[in-house]
Amino acid sequence: MSGSLVVDNIGELVTNGAGEGPLGIRRDAAVLVEEGRVVWVGPSAYAPAADRRLDAGGAAVLPGFVDSHAHLVFAGDRAAEFAARMAGEPYTGGGIRTTVGATRAASDDELRANVRRLRGEALRQGTTTMEIKSGYGLTVADEARSLRIAAETSTETTFLGAHVVPAEYADRPDDYVGLVCGPMLAAAAPHAKWIDVFCERGAFDVDHARAILACGQAVGLGVRLHANQLGPGPGVQLGVELGAASVDHCTHLSDADIDALAGAHTTTVATLLPGAEFSTRSPYPDARRLLDAGVTVALATDCNPGSSYTSSMPFCVALAVREMRMTPAEALWAATAGGARALRRDDIGVLTPGARADLVVLDAPSYLHLAYRPGVPLIRKVLLNGVPQ
Ligand code: NIG
Ligand code: FE
Repeated sequence: MSGSLVVDNIGELVTNGAGEGPLGIRRDAAVLVEEGRVVWVGPSAYAPAADRRLDAGGAAVLPGFVDSHAHLVFAGDRAAEFAARMAGEPYTGGGIRTTVGATRAASDDELRANVRRLRGEALRQGTTTMEIKSGYGLTVADEARSLRIAAETSTETTFLGAHVVPAEYADRPDDYVGLVCGPMLAAAAPHAKWIDVFCERGAFDVDHARAILACGQAVGLGVRLHANQLGPGPGVQLGVELGAASVDHCTHLSDADIDALAGAHTTTVATLLPGAEFSTRSPYPDARRLLDAGVTVALATDCNPGSSYTSSMPFCVALAVREMRMTPAEALWAATAGGARALRRDDIGVLTPGARADLVVLDAPSYLHLAYRPGVPLIRKVLLNGVPQ
């Protein structure tokens, strides 16, 4: 859509830039959008004329949510596994193989439809950027097609061939690592921006993770890592050492992990995924310990059919506030600007001149309502690249 658009009569504008407090709040504000970009932010009374106008009616406007961790390319569901967990079964990650079987058996169109369904669901809940991982194919052909399909929907695509060792390689994991680093990476890399490994007992150990991530870096992929989800381990420190954009989960952290993440030269973000703790009935990560140490924290959904089948960033914000003692401002920042940092992007997660015009008009006077009114559909309008959805 061409032409300019002014969003005015904004009661509370979260910019994550200049303004009041850590969220850079402006009251009675307006935003001018041209060619998909924010070109002006200021008082509503001084809003420039534009080709079109969107009256926010005094409501709050925020940057669109940046969901930096999601697994959308899969088939089937694992509702029975969820029910068993709620009856006391532990989560081990073993169910990943169930989804691998269903995903391999699905057609391209079935996988594509699933990605679009979940992406649409997230968009209606205010998510304007969504990272998408492979990781339920685990053959050369199935990982390549997973990423091809993911790339139709997002530029933030991640090769997760090292999600688990598939059953056919169960007794020869070194051979599987060789496959991931060789032909699978070669087939995946043209469709991927990032490489990820599930570094955990029962998945990939630190030596395998290091080898796989190094191969990905060698072909130009950025590093991210699933680490320290189910227990303590070396994943977080490996991620920091490799300059990962993000280490994700961070549920079990030692003092040394915190020190590494808080290091003066560290650019690695700690991405917390409270939907996973909710859906596996596990203790939440200690967000306060990270924030109080000065670590950059992001929030994401981890949308996947096993450990966290939610596409809702507002739900994750509410969990972070209620269960992880993040302030509402910390949680919103982590779900917007924090997610952008985790993807090494400076054009999203903020509403300042030059940024992409990805924004959300709430059905509420303040961002505080995201946690204050949990479970309520508060997203009135979403602009994606300046285009009303
Ligand atoms: O991030 N931890 C590894 N991967 C996913 C779970 C995937 C699954 O259970 O299917 C996660 O929680
Ligand atoms: Fe995940």
